[in-house]
Amino acid sequence: MTAPARTARTRGSEELIRAEEPVLAHNYHPLPVVVARAEGAWVEDVEGRRYLDMLAGYSALNFGHRHPALTEAAHRQLDRLTLTSRAFHNDRLASFAERLATLTGTEMVLPMNTGAEAVESGIKVARKWAYDVKGVPADRATIVVAADNFHGRTTTIVSFSTDETARSGFGPFTPGFRVVPYNDLAAMEAAVDETTAAVLIEPIQGEAGVLIPDPGYLAGVRELTRRAGCLFVADEIQSGLGRTGRTLAVEHESVVPDVVLLGKALGGGIVPVSAVVGSREVLGVLRPGEHGSTFGGNPLAAAVGTAVVELLETGEFQRRATELGAVLREGLTALVGRGVVGFRARGLWAGVDVEPALGTGREISERLMREGVLVKDTHGSTIRLAPPLTVTGEELAGALGTLEKVLTS
Ligand SMILES: Cc1ncc(COP(=O)(O)O)c(C=O)c1O
Repeated sequence: MTAPARTARTRGSEELIRAEEPVLAHNYHPLPVVVARAEGAWVEDVEGRRYLDMLAGYSALNFGHRHPALTEAAHRQLDRLTLTSRAFHNDRLASFAERLATLTGTEMVLPMNTGAEAVESGIKVARKWAYDVKGVPADRATIVVAADNFHGRTTTIVSFSTDETARSGFGPFTPGFRVVPYNDLAAMEAAVDETTAAVLIEPIQGEAGVLIPDPGYLAGVRELTRRAGCLFVADEIQSGLGRTGRTLAVEHESVVPDVVLLGKALGGGIVPVSAVVGSREVLGVLRPGEHGSTFGGNPLAAAVGTAVVELLETGEFQRRATELGAVLREGLTALVGRGVVGFRARGLWAGVDVEPALGTGREISERLMREGVLVKDTHGSTIRLAPPLTVTGEELAGALGTLEKVLTS
């Protein structure tokens, strides 16, 4: 008999990283840290080294790791009912949809699982609305999107990506998208015509480096889409659910889109939960059999999602993002000219451009990792900071101190 394979518990970080190489597809290039446990804003690796998580799963962990209210909701639901499929009703879905619609000021919810699925679903709903309600001739609907977008990885979504790494080798692509520069209302206006079903943008472009559009841009998109008779679809999968100091980032300009796409933090860092939320006029176009997902709206997801909505209903996390966001901004401002070339920040979310001579974003991230702070680079010499909204002022100050040390020593 051959010896049983060694379990993960007995293998060290280096060995585990090496073990991934031949068996895991190489579609990621993670930092060389192997996380084994986590609580709040902290993670611990296999050897017991602790790191402050300043990435929070790209905002999927807005409430930190294993928030007690969220794990309790999950445990309770695990002991009762986990999956029905939408072939049957389940007793958790109605209140999840009601409370999410109320939280986001919308009327209807289409529950899905991953962010990319929410985007795909939003695209399908917008196209269907264009044919059924707006009267666009069959198969002629267009959707206007922004350059440097990041909306996910499906074939249709990468069809309108402007990132060659995301696209190259994956064609043929889905037609029907027009790409215009971000933050350029005139270009958007020129691209919109009678075939336009929707404009689809991120209110803040996360993956592009936390790019915040000029004041008035989002309100301008709202005005333009209303005038043109097309939908405004806001992808708030990363920017939404407290990250920027508001429940939705569009609230900074008092804008109400027709459709909002949510994901990441909606699953509380426990299960993938996403949703398309919007008006009854738009989401009401779907009829039985036209769209679906076996796991979308499952009772475990609905229970965790409801607990997430309950946390956001208190306003505490939006407030923390605003208050601690000021600390983050102040700390980064002090580093400008001392290793930081510039930064963009809103709430507890920042894209920081590091002096290129000091290293790539990846190298800076690795140096921070060795000092016990986890971040991730985006492009070039830009790193992204998005700590859990539960992070304390002290922890944040510590991370900023570590960043200063890495950039100035
Ligand atoms: C704005 C935005 N949309 C969509 C997605 C895709 O989400 P997922 O990775 O859950 O498919 C992401 C992921 O980073 C995102 O940031």
